[in-house]
Amino acid sequence: MPDSTFPIPSERPRRLRRSPALRALTREVTLAPAHLIHPMFVHEEATDTPIASMPGVSRHSLDSAVQQAGEALALGIRSVILFGIPAHKDALGTQAYADQGIIQRAARAIKAAHPDLTVIADTCLCEYTDHGHCGPLCKIHPNEWTVDNDPSLELLAQTAVSQARAGADIVAPSAMMDGQVAAIRAALDAAGFPHIPVMSYAVKYASAYYGPFRDAAGSTPSVGDRATYQMDPAGGYREALREARLDVAQGADYLMVKPALAYLDVLKLLRDNFDLPLVTYNVSGEYALVKAAAQLGYMDERRTVLETLTGMRRAGADAIITYHALDAARWLAGG
Ligand code: PBG
Ligand code: ZN
Repeated sequence: MPDSTFPIPSERPRRLRRSPALRALTREVTLAPAHLIHPMFVHEEATDTPIASMPGVSRHSLDSAVQQAGEALALGIRSVILFGIPAHKDALGTQAYADQGIIQRAARAIKAAHPDLTVIADTCLCEYTDHGHCGPLCKIHPNEWTVDNDPSLELLAQTAVSQARAGADIVAPSAMMDGQVAAIRAALDAAGFPHIPVMSYAVKYASAYYGPFRDAAGSTPSVGDRATYQMDPAGGYREALREARLDVAQGADYLMVKPALAYLDVLKLLRDNFDLPLVTYNVSGEYALVKAAAQLGYMDERRTVLETLTGMRRAGADAIITYHALDAARWLAGG
């Protein structure tokens, strides 16, 4: 025995970490493919186009979207979220709510091929408007424009109904318009879709982490930014609680926090204050950071991704939307 003067530790947590089996015995947080939602971009072209800032992610043709949805399902991922990139954009985003719009066609094709897969439709207008904002613009001052809230509600509601008609199992409004959940709920109920849940992007920040997504969707605003409707990152907990409370009151079935990594405290806050299922969105910029570091050899991609997704689960996410979904599911299966 060393001749020491310091006290012998009375508690030794290391005893429980001695072997993989012991560590597995008391692990509290689980991560499985069924917790993951795989995002897919679908465009109207016949071939896929890689997205430069998101290595491994492409804009898909309809056929290839159907095929990749099947791959996800085979890996145990039971949900996908679809983003449509229309060939034609206009001031009112009309392709968002067109019966033969790209997201409607994609939802139909994927559900026809894979009826057991849950298809979530992102409900927003920014991929469909020529100015890139999440709703139509209006003038509120001689030289001040903004997104016109209440007319946007009408278009978002129409979009949600057309997505439900096309077979979407869940609609996910992401426009951050006031009252959007209530408008969509009422429209779905009136159109015969009371069984379709609303997954609300309730707490969504105006974030630099959406950069690669906007490249992918061609939805960077041509004038201004989204700070007049998406939340201020420094807004704090009262604003987050308020946004969540409003969406619960309007009939949301799921709440979402987006982005994930810089907002895990907000996710935990919602976990502690609400009893709805929680989703977090591990967004495009978060994906791009890991991909870039892995390509440069700075990080071990597999360990980094699984650790990050586990952290999101620990913070309170029931489900995680992530561009890493296919890889993570393969890794979880030991591949
Ligand atoms: C559309 C929408 C965006 C994302 C999801 N839905 C873009 C935005 O708000 O600018 C971002 C997703 C990502 O970055 O991966 N409103
Ligand atoms: Zn939008």
